[in-house]
Amino acid sequence: LAWVCGAVVVAVAAWQFTESRLMPATPSRSDEPVVSTLRSSEPLEPIPAAPALDGRKVALGQRLFHDPRLSRDNTVSCASCHLIDQGGADGAGHSKGIRGQLSDFNSPTVFNSALNFRQFWNGRAPTLEAQIDGPLHHRSEMGTTWTEVLGKLVKDVWYAREFGALYPNGLQAAAVKDAIATFERSLHTPDSRFDRYLKGDVQAMSLRELDGYQKFKSYGCVACHQGAAVGGNMFARLGVMQNYFSDPNNMTPADLGRFAVTGRAQDMHVFKVPSLRNVALTAPYLHDGSAPRLEDAVQVMGIYQLGIAIPADDAAAIVAFLRTLTGEYAGKPL
Ligand code: HEC
Ligand code: HEC
Repeated sequence: LAWVCGAVVVAVAAWQFTESRLMPATPSRSDEPVVSTLRSSEPLEPIPAAPALDGRKVALGQRLFHDPRLSRDNTVSCASCHLIDQGGADGAGHSKGIRGQLSDFNSPTVFNSALNFRQFWNGRAPTLEAQIDGPLHHRSEMGTTWTEVLGKLVKDVWYAREFGALYPNGLQAAAVKDAIATFERSLHTPDSRFDRYLKGDVQAMSLRELDGYQKFKSYGCVACHQGAAVGGNMFARLGVMQNYFSDPNNMTPADLGRFAVTGRAQDMHVFKVPSLRNVALTAPYLHDGSAPRLEDAVQVMGIYQLGIAIPADDAAAIVAFLRTLTGEYAGKPL
């Protein structure tokens, strides 16, 4: 715990130091030149250009993602918990799997999941392909096996043709995973107002939103939520400054965080720092779905991650900034 705290405090201090030297206390737009180059001194980056993908594999993966035959009783698809037209999550604290059972965690979005350095709240899957075994086998999510799934899909002539044409070994678990992961890599959301600002369009954000961005940096949120995904590239304990899990009787296996993966004491309550891209669309928040509104999540972060009760007006400015992180999918606003 000591070194995690230390590292964060140092990182926060470093940010505050750079901020106070490089940035005016109140962002002002009028005296800023309109630049066409990237703002390279920023801790956050625009979403990179969409990767080149095989369109036919994307279409195949999209169909599989929406196919309930990937669950034991043909009632639940990936899209049941990751709704593409609802920010890639499902709006529930815990998602419903087969027979109405609840998942252990709050559903994260699948948008930009390709930018995560690991998958799942506790980071237990190294790749998007490896992630798929999780929900497929989980008894309260899809509760099935690959043998069962492949036995159903092989009877579908469209799948037989597509897999035959696209994969040398035809319809196999590895090919299904590859197609779904290829579709997920297409779930890319560039061109948010914040990205346009970073690329030099200073009119893309209001002064209030810029003030929120400034506070997001000066409070030290960027010590953990960094890079193009505004998160998704490191682990951190939930409760760096104060114990979030104070009631041991009220703790679930999900609350163990990375400890459940590694068994190491220092990984207790350590989670992947989630991406904040499109975060305005994916309430409720946190791994346990306990924060109903974005304002609540920001307050939790202040108290447990930074040791600060963030004044309501500052929290509201930060939320205004977070709302500028909503991007576009397939050329339309999410
Ligand atoms: C019953 C609801 C449910 C179903 C069905 C489901 N998921 Fe999820 N998904 C979740 C939950 C809950 C998590 C978080 C679980 C965890 O962290 O252990 C998650 C996590 C993920 C992640 C990791 C995202 C991140 O930021 O770490 C990806 C990617 C994903 N799901 C894709 C899929 C795909 C692909 C399918 C279909 C094969 C699928 N999900 C089926 C609920 C579901
Ligand atoms: C020490 C690292 C750290 C710092 C500093 C930090 N966060 Fe987080 N943040 C996390 C982690 C870890 C989670 C996931 C916690 C969990 O398990 O639910 C998270 C979750 C969130 C969420 C919920 C996202 C979701 O999809 O559920 C929001 C919003 C958020 N942080 C915003 C902020 C803001 C705003 C600040 C600054 C006031 C901040 N964070 C500071 C590590 C950090």
